[in-house]
Amino acid sequence: MKLEWSLALKNRSLLTLDDLSDSEMLEIVKLAMDLKSRRDSGVRGDLLERRQIALIFEKSSTRTRCAAACAVREEGGNAEYLTRNDIHLGGKESAADTARVLGRMFDGILFRGFSQHTVETLAAYAGVPVWNGLTDVAHPTQILADLMTVKQVFGAFKGLKLAYVGDGRNNVATSLMMGCAKAGVDFVNCTPPELAPDATLTASATAVAATNGSTVSVVSDPKAGVKGANIIYTDVWVSMGEENEKSKRLSLLQPYQVNSELVAATGVPQDEFIFLHCLPAFHNHDTDITRLCGALEVTDEVFEAPYSKVFDEAENRMHTIKALFVSALA
Ligand code: CP
Ligand code: NVA
Repeated sequence: MKLEWSLALKNRSLLTLDDLSDSEMLEIVKLAMDLKSRRDSGVRGDLLERRQIALIFEKSSTRTRCAAACAVREEGGNAEYLTRNDIHLGGKESAADTARVLGRMFDGILFRGFSQHTVETLAAYAGVPVWNGLTDVAHPTQILADLMTVKQVFGAFKGLKLAYVGDGRNNVATSLMMGCAKAGVDFVNCTPPELAPDATLTASATAVAATNGSTVSVVSDPKAGVKGANIIYTDVWVSMGEENEKSKRLSLLQPYQVNSELVAATGVPQDEFIFLHCLPAFHNHDTDITRLCGALEVTDEVFEAPYSKVFDEAENRMHTIKALFVSALA
């Protein structure tokens, strides 16, 4: 299989989806799909042979960390996992100094943490590509996997409607809003007014969507918002670092739970519909919190339904992160 990607992606960082043109974003999704086919046919390549990637994680992670580590190792490179306990970043050493040291040793840095300013500083000083593996405000690598999953199921983006239901101002919701706008998918954010996304972000996604013939809207009535949606997407109600908001969010977001009734309100046949969640998810399984109060943002009947593509989506984190690394470094 011939893998193709644009040379313009060489050495590029990804701090938010704004860093990619619409066509570059779709090109990375296409490369990820080709890398998946190549892997499915049994090939483990050497596109990242002897490349060293630093994985700096201030917050915990299952998917992003493992996707990045497996992606680089499968292609012959190495990943070094570094937490706050392992390096001086944020303690004895500034982000700018850490970036200048790591940039002399590593070929790229993936960062997960709190502040967007930290990932921007790393990118400004490292001299090597820096990828945002989630900050308080953005989760761009997640959206590449989401779009890949949509493409796998529907074959195209235009004409589809995605309804995001839940905490409408978090990192996933706002990055997804821009990702859909860039792909030409109609995007509806169903969220209480208290959790509406920043008006500037909505305006900029709306402008991008208009260039692709699609729309962006924010509504507070979830049943009205999901009408005609081919995709319902949700995320946790309390993001990492916002634990103090827990009791407020749990009552505010109760009407936004994704359950069979909400799926039925789409009016879309089940073979033209999918459910997505970036994961981890609080459905009716055994976590400390669901043992106490049952499912939160999604019920088991939806999470476990045939139309739920959440584990394909999780797998696609690896193919899309691999595509990002390959297009920047190979
Ligand atoms: N979706 C996602 O980013 O998962 P992790 O927190 O497990 O990396
Ligand atoms: N919004 C969630 C996404 C987790 C992948 C968080 O930031 O915790």
